[in-house]
Amino acid sequence: MEENRIPRHVAVILDGNGRWAKAKGLPRTFGHLKGCTNLESLCDDVKELGIPYLTVYAFSTENWKRSRHEVEWLMKLFRNYLRRCKKIAERNDMRVSVIGDISAFDEDMQKIIRDLEEFSRGFKTLYFQLALNYGSRDEMLRAIRGFAEDVKDGKRLPGELDEELFSDYLDTRGVPDPDLMIRTSGEQRLSNFLMWQMAYAEFYFTDVAWPDFDMAELKKAVDWFGNRERRYGGVKEKG
Ligand code: FPP
Repeated sequence: MEENRIPRHVAVILDGNGRWAKAKGLPRTFGHLKGCTNLESLCDDVKELGIPYLTVYAFSTENWKRSRHEVEWLMKLFRNYLRRCKKIAERNDMRVSVIGDISAFDEDMQKIIRDLEEFSRGFKTLYFQLALNYGSRDEMLRAIRGFAEDVKDGKRLPGELDEELFSDYLDTRGVPDPDLMIRTSGEQRLSNFLMWQMAYAEFYFTDVAWPDFDMAELKKAVDWFGNRERRYGGVKEKG
């Protein structure tokens, strides 16, 4: 029997921590805690399935609008997670890169991010991008500003800009585009996530809340992807 194709790059919108907790009569923050533990498992599971690239949307440019208490709590959670992440990176031979505008974070958190990226730079089996203070529109605007600066400095000509060069100005430079996007917890929106990069991705939506999204659920998504690929007669190469 023909083997189903596995995706090369999976992007996940981690949604539903709050509703998961509420349904259990627990505070939203407990849902985030469980969501954080689940993210560790996801990295292990993605590596086990042999998927080489993973990107997750943990905090959007819009998420600052949540209550002060929740935002402060999330920042603490991210800080702790990023410290622990060296261990996760080591055990999975996983390179970590944070995408998004990290200049909005406290200096100590920026340093933890830079240290983690530097520490994991040589790891090769899994490439993990963590989106923090990320928004696709913001990323594209920063890219355009970067290009405009290079034109001003005489390093580039406006006519040189094509899809490939534009991609090099994005936070995701050098990383292949996602071919499978998973969003948990029932919403069917892109929410400003990797809009340029996911122009050709397959979208998989599930009602399962993020804290309950385990290896069995991941396999369902990957099988669904493999079946779609087959139905359409294999990969449609871009360009
Ligand atoms: C989505 O659920 C969760 C978030 C936007 C918060 C951040 C994600 C985590 C805590 C997962 C772990 C990530 C890291 C990097 C530690 P929601 O609050 O939008 O849930 P709701 O839609 O049910 O309210």
